[in-house]
Amino acid sequence: MDLATYESQLCRDLTLPAEALTRMAQSFKEAMSAGLAGRTSSLKMLPSFLALPTGAEKGRVIAVDFGGTNVRVLEAELTGRGEVKIEQMRRFPLVDPAAGYDYMSGSADASHLFGFIAARVGEIARPGVDYPLGHTFSFPCEQTGVNKARLIVWTKEFKTRGVEGQDIGALFDAALARAGVGHVKGRAIINDTVGTLLAAAYLKRDVDIASICGTGHNTCYLEPSFPATGKPMIVNMESGNFDQVPQTRFDIALDRASERPGAQKLEKMVSGYYLGEIVRHILADMATQGVLPKSAKLGQVLALKGMDLDHILSAKGELHRVSEVAQRCLGLEDLSKVQLQAIQNMVQLVARRSARLVAATFFGTLLHTDAGLAREHTVAIDGSLYEKLPGYAGWLQEALDELAPKGRVTTMLSKDGSGIGAAIAAGMTGTA
Ligand code: BGC
Repeated sequence: MDLATYESQLCRDLTLPAEALTRMAQSFKEAMSAGLAGRTSSLKMLPSFLALPTGAEKGRVIAVDFGGTNVRVLEAELTGRGEVKIEQMRRFPLVDPAAGYDYMSGSADASHLFGFIAARVGEIARPGVDYPLGHTFSFPCEQTGVNKARLIVWTKEFKTRGVEGQDIGALFDAALARAGVGHVKGRAIINDTVGTLLAAAYLKRDVDIASICGTGHNTCYLEPSFPATGKPMIVNMESGNFDQVPQTRFDIALDRASERPGAQKLEKMVSGYYLGEIVRHILADMATQGVLPKSAKLGQVLALKGMDLDHILSAKGELHRVSEVAQRCLGLEDLSKVQLQAIQNMVQLVARRSARLVAATFFGTLLHTDAGLAREHTVAIDGSLYEKLPGYAGWLQEALDELAPKGRVTTMLSKDGSGIGAAIAAGMTGTA
């Protein structure tokens, strides 16, 4: 096969026209209804036990933001006028080979992990001050109360023992007491999407959906009437697990080779952790088809990171920058201009498809909450793809404008919303 034929076939496979997005949005809406009604669904529809904040939340709080390899702890003041003033913030890794620890691996257990974070809380909490604590914990949790969250399953390669199936609030409170930080009391456990929504609601009134488009992917929204309570409630959909997605043979191969085949199908097509892998699978296929040279590195898992895709897309016409990534990450030498251009085009197709799939899920959410689009809606988003990947935010808006009347549904960046949202959540649940 020649390169031009390969490229046009790939373009057909990876391009999703508006009709395909509309169909997907419709099935997303149906999966939401099924999940809410307790029927089998790939959407878990997990209640947060929180609605939107009023802005009147007040007092000094501690927030913990735990959703990946770096944890942030902050002390903040809620003014009661819809503002959060950050007084102190520290960020620290859960893995540090030089210091000899790895709290993400199976060699650590719950008491090591939460003991370590509790000790960091102890470093910023002032003695003698009673603080409520809001905890962003960005993994799928079954909640039975705002501070009662049981981890269903680790995602993002965490393997720490004794945490799955456990109540995260109880584990953390016990760790705070052991660390002598009993004056800090866990009050709320929230997903990072929920934090992003709470933080954005302080800035703009019509925000009712929030999403993370970064290493992982997930979306929450304000359910106007949660079945169990009949009241408004923010629901964490764990939408990365949505499974009625138009997979290509590359997505199927990636899923089969992943840690948990069949799980997180949408996340595997859209999130930063996996986009590099999709690109690598396609490049390996191009080499097999003889339109690119062969290289052993094409078989190496995670050879391409999100950052490398950033370099490829920001290179624009400077193809030597694409060549630099191809050589360094994949061992592909002496590529022609046409081959380099084909690689850049392909990365763009993969990234644009991610943005369009995500847009379809936002539109599906609105089909559930406001099918006639009677109101304007803003989707708050945090994460490296949306914030940094060249073109991503624009492709997302372009797709939303194909699905809804132009400008009716817009997006906004909610930077570090998950930490700020945890502080707001602590304030929403009262004082210590
Ligand atoms: C987790 C979600 C989280 C998302 C973004 C996913 O892997 O399951 O709970 O919201 O990543 O951090």
